[in-house]
Amino acid sequence: MGKGEIVAIIGRNGVGKTTLMKCLIGLLPATAGTILYDRSNVTPEDANVRARRGIGYIPQGRGIFPRLTVAENLAMGEMIGTDKGGTKLRELVDRYFPILGTRSRQRAGTMSGGEQQQLAIGRALIGNPDLVLLDEPSEGIQPSIVQQIAENIKKLNAEIGLTVLFVEQNIDMIMSMAQRCYVMDKGAIVDQVAPGDLADEKIMRKYLAI
Ligand SMILES: Nc1ncnc2c1ncn2[C@@H]1O[C@H](COP(=O)(O)OP(=O)(O)O)[C@@H](O)[C@H]1O
Ligand SMILES: [Mg+2]
Repeated sequence: MGKGEIVAIIGRNGVGKTTLMKCLIGLLPATAGTILYDRSNVTPEDANVRARRGIGYIPQGRGIFPRLTVAENLAMGEMIGTDKGGTKLRELVDRYFPILGTRSRQRAGTMSGGEQQQLAIGRALIGNPDLVLLDEPSEGIQPSIVQQIAENIKKLNAEIGLTVLFVEQNIDMIMSMAQRCYVMDKGAIVDQVAPGDLADEKIMRKYLAI
């Protein structure tokens, strides 16, 4: 995928979407192939090195630290983030996710799912990534917050050219965010579909019905 794009990976449960994301950030080894990032081969590099090079990761289930406060969670994101210059996203995180400021002293585990997802995204962005890997951001979150998160990600993409690769099963979120969409099955990318075509129930069922 190219810099500045928003690309979706779709597919049924268990086809390997999360495994792909973990391979890309370096939490699982790639058994075959190479991972190219910013024109270099990052396949042998550890996850922390890839994070410092500018890849942010927001795992499925959010992966926030429930017993730490919102501010402490964000501080962790700053620590594992990139050490290169470039746009400092802290100000943007405050602007796009104001709840993280107003709730800074709250323990993250006591927030709602949607609030925790905003924290997980904010924690990744605060490390100043150029690319974020986002695994099923809508999972377990009420529709109004899903829309809000989709809008914020699109605005970040337009404002600073943030590159986004996301896994999703929520049709509204895919159609609202994705510029391109790849289909996974049995551990491999098997097809590409225009996000707009997913409005057609037949096409949607073919790729996503569980
Ligand atoms: N390329 C692959 N080859 C073999 N097994 C795989 C591959 N990708 C994923 N798996 C296995 O499939 C299972 C489900 O994968 P997961 O990535 O969690 O799926 P998803 O996120 O699409 O629901 C896991 O047990 C994983 O180890
Ligand atoms: Mg998954």
